[in-house]
Amino acid sequence: MEFKDNTKSARKSVFPAGFFWGAATSAHQVEGGNQNDWTLFERQNAKRLSQSAQKKHWPDYILNNHPNPFQVENYISGQACDHYNRFKEDFDIAQSLGHNAHRFSIEWSRIEPEEGKFNGKEIEHYREVIRALRERDMEPFVTLWHWTLPRWLENKGGILTEDFQRYFVRYAERLAVAFKNDVQFWFTINEPEIYCLNAYYRGRRPPQKNGFFYFYRGFNSLILAHRLAYRAMKKISSRFTIGIVCNLSDFKSSGGPVNAFLKVLFERFWNHRFLQKIKNEIDAIGLNFYFHHRIRYGLRSANEVISDVGWDLHPEGIESILRDLQVYERPIYITESGLADARDKNRAWFIKETIEAAGRALARGVPVRGYFHWSLSDNFEWDNGFWPRFGLVEIDYRTLERKIRPSAWEYKKIIENHFNV
Ligand code: BGC
Repeated sequence: MEFKDNTKSARKSVFPAGFFWGAATSAHQVEGGNQNDWTLFERQNAKRLSQSAQKKHWPDYILNNHPNPFQVENYISGQACDHYNRFKEDFDIAQSLGHNAHRFSIEWSRIEPEEGKFNGKEIEHYREVIRALRERDMEPFVTLWHWTLPRWLENKGGILTEDFQRYFVRYAERLAVAFKNDVQFWFTINEPEIYCLNAYYRGRRPPQKNGFFYFYRGFNSLILAHRLAYRAMKKISSRFTIGIVCNLSDFKSSGGPVNAFLKVLFERFWNHRFLQKIKNEIDAIGLNFYFHHRIRYGLRSANEVISDVGWDLHPEGIESILRDLQVYERPIYITESGLADARDKNRAWFIKETIEAAGRALARGVPVRGYFHWSLSDNFEWDNGFWPRFGLVEIDYRTLERKIRPSAWEYKKIIENHFNV
């Protein structure tokens, strides 16, 4: 998104100086070697998931890849991308792609493997990770909790245990103290709505509970956890920028008063409920954008272009969400946006459209301050396993070789065009 600056007859970008360009990852999806609630879920469910995949029809380009949805090993995170050991190599790649920031998460089960016993060596590991980013001129954006729980906490009932807030605050404080001088940007929780939907309403992910009441309790537990962690961390450093990451959808009514009413309802509940509850305890908003829904007496697919996992690709939808977020008067970071695209057919187009739409929102005064593509590399896509390919960088899971996809270079060109103004 560019406009002519007539006064200097130079081309000027709407993206402000200091805009953050990068990609995102999460610990369990890339690190490998974790021992948490997911590790157990994977062992117990891999066979079932591979068997139910056999009932669906899959295109050859997915089945010819390794691992594919029929293979049991597809559903076991195992060594994942071995990012825990290869993070420097991965950050070298990100740097070569022009990134000046990177979003990642810290694995709670490494930091506190037993209740109340914090592992200093693992804290030092993440200090190394942060240092490696800084050495490459990339700003670290740290997520405290991206869905995986230490086993001891899972055994106590996870986010529904009475003491969950106390545990979460203690963990947050520990990291805030450790990285007080190293990290500016923090996000407490990744996508509380999606977590509760899949783990407590649909029963698809650990702890596999089903029902609206569970969802509701989980959601409220996370609201409180965020608030208390925010306050505790601000006491440690008032300079921290602390936000939340929400997964918001673009809802489009297909006309008529009923659909218009449903749109308002979905937006209020899905897009704004969590944010409304914590609006006094955030310095920044992290927006994850993946979903576009047509409303016709319910949620429908628009079926325009779809990704390998069947999601509608509607990148321009991000503009209206960004504009809606303006009410909170906080800087906004697009903390995730991306697609499963093993053939890299749509990724370059999708990135360009998303960034242009963000540029249009910026031009209208929305304070967008960063864009993080999901994801830096292919990774473990939760209960879908490894077959969905979300990476700017392809991973060969047999050799762990990294291969930069063409779209990653296209993203680099966009970054450069907006830097050199
Ligand atoms: C999550 C990621 C996930 C991505 C793609 C987001 O909801 O934060 O962990 O990989 O979506 O499904």
